[in-house]
Amino acid sequence: MSATSLSWKPSTWELPVKIVRPRSNNPNRLDRLAFRRCAMEAASSSSSSGGVGGSGSDADSDKKTSSVWKQLHKGIAEFYDESSSLWENIWGDHMHHGFYQPNASNVSLSDHRAAQIRMIEEALRFAALDSEDDPTKRPKQVVDVGCGIGGSSRYLASKYDAKCQGITLSPVQAQRANALASAHGLADKVSFQVADALEQPFNDGQFDLVWSMESGEHMPDKTKFVNELVRVAAPGGTIIIVTWCHRDLGPGEEALQSSEQSLLNKICDAFYLPAWCSTAHYVQLLESHSLQDIKAADWSEYVAPFWPAVIRSALTWKGFTSLLRSGSKTIRGALAMPLMIQGYKKGLIKFAIITCRKPNQ
Ligand SMILES: C[S@@+](CC[C@H](N)C(=O)[O-])C[C@H]1O[C@@H](n2cnc3c(N)ncnc32)[C@H](O)[C@@H]1O
Repeated sequence: MSATSLSWKPSTWELPVKIVRPRSNNPNRLDRLAFRRCAMEAASSSSSSGGVGGSGSDADSDKKTSSVWKQLHKGIAEFYDESSSLWENIWGDHMHHGFYQPNASNVSLSDHRAAQIRMIEEALRFAALDSEDDPTKRPKQVVDVGCGIGGSSRYLASKYDAKCQGITLSPVQAQRANALASAHGLADKVSFQVADALEQPFNDGQFDLVWSMESGEHMPDKTKFVNELVRVAAPGGTIIIVTWCHRDLGPGEEALQSSEQSLLNKICDAFYLPAWCSTAHYVQLLESHSLQDIKAADWSEYVAPFWPAVIRSALTWKGFTSLLRSGSKTIRGALAMPLMIQGYKKGLIKFAIITCRKPNQ
């Protein structure tokens, strides 16, 4: 595994925000707890360092896993159905971290939007797909796995003159993504549908760029997720996964510390995430396929200004009033944002990029 050399030390972590987390016995909370417990059981029976192994060994456990996944998917769909228009109104059509210059300070909203585009460009550069001059390197068929409202798809389709298909669990996002494609005159190039990344509605070998920008953390079965990304990649195609991971375990370490796990659990509850895995685990999963140029890097330091900025935007009058109107899932997500900052600061949460290429046949 290779990593970029990082010398920049962020200074924007500390935010004096106190989190008030109401406890209740409501069924949604119980569902989330049941999901987390099941995810943890599945994780402990898999070889991953926290990722959820999928297939249980008997019918009962399969049934339990499938019902927990259904609940998770429903939660994810509702979360994004509810929160996407608020995000779009304030942040625009990219629902991912920005990639910032070292020592970035006094970053304006337009700088944040530029940083989100830079994230896409840096990811392409990391995967050696940035050479626009070389037509052989330009992807022609792209899949955007976990597409949000289609910001990456529209950008990639325009940049490469490519066809792009996006999938999301959220019907509201798929509809909005299609509407934005029409509004931008891209309806003949990009299209979006509701579909599960773990059972993609695509043929084998269909795409020469398989793009997953901050959706992997929602996947309850990382093995199945990676298998699907590899399956739909064309020979010679590139896979780019940008995702939240937990830190790699040290030698002799079998699990995260309980305080670390407990912080991640709170984040899971708020953002509809299953158990996390490490970057090393993704690399291991990719290595189990015949892939080339597998590379990973920790970009946590380059994304440092992001969450403080999102919190600041939620504390503006427009942000705050929109948040109050948005619904309970969005409010719970907003209250958990400082936990992401804590996780990064502790070195527990890693913002990871993992890329590889499927060999030409
Ligand atoms: C944080 S948003 C990222 C959106 C987009 N990639 C972007 O950068 O703007 C996460 C996305 O992952 C999608 N997602 C989560 N789990 C999924 C699954 N199992 N199948 C398809 N999409 C999924 C959500 O619906 C949402 O669109």
